[in-house]
Amino acid sequence: MGKPWIPVIEEDRLIESSVRLVTPKGLGILLIRKKGSEIYAISNKCPHMGCPLRTGILEGYILTCPCHDWRFDIRTGFFLDAPEISLAVYPVRVADGMISIRL
Ligand code: FES
Repeated sequence: MGKPWIPVIEEDRLIESSVRLVTPKGLGILLIRKKGSEIYAISNKCPHMGCPLRTGILEGYILTCPCHDWRFDIRTGFFLDAPEISLAVYPVRVADGMISIRL
């Protein structure tokens, strides 16, 4: 059996193009909704020096770390300047009005 889905927030509480921190099992994870039900879940911890990405700037699908401007694609987690470095990205599911992720 695969890992369980963990409910993190009601779907209608996630505003489009905002970045929302959730902490399932004590892990800092950012939820980002693009259009409609297109939702991404990425780690809040920058792989450079660990800054929280929550206060970073989101432009399109690119999130820029507030500390030293590393840029990441929220769809893949890839660091744009070197894709061998990446953020953790988690699968997202929406069911019965609830957003769940798999760690
Ligand atoms: S900690 Fe994110 S770019 Fe340095």
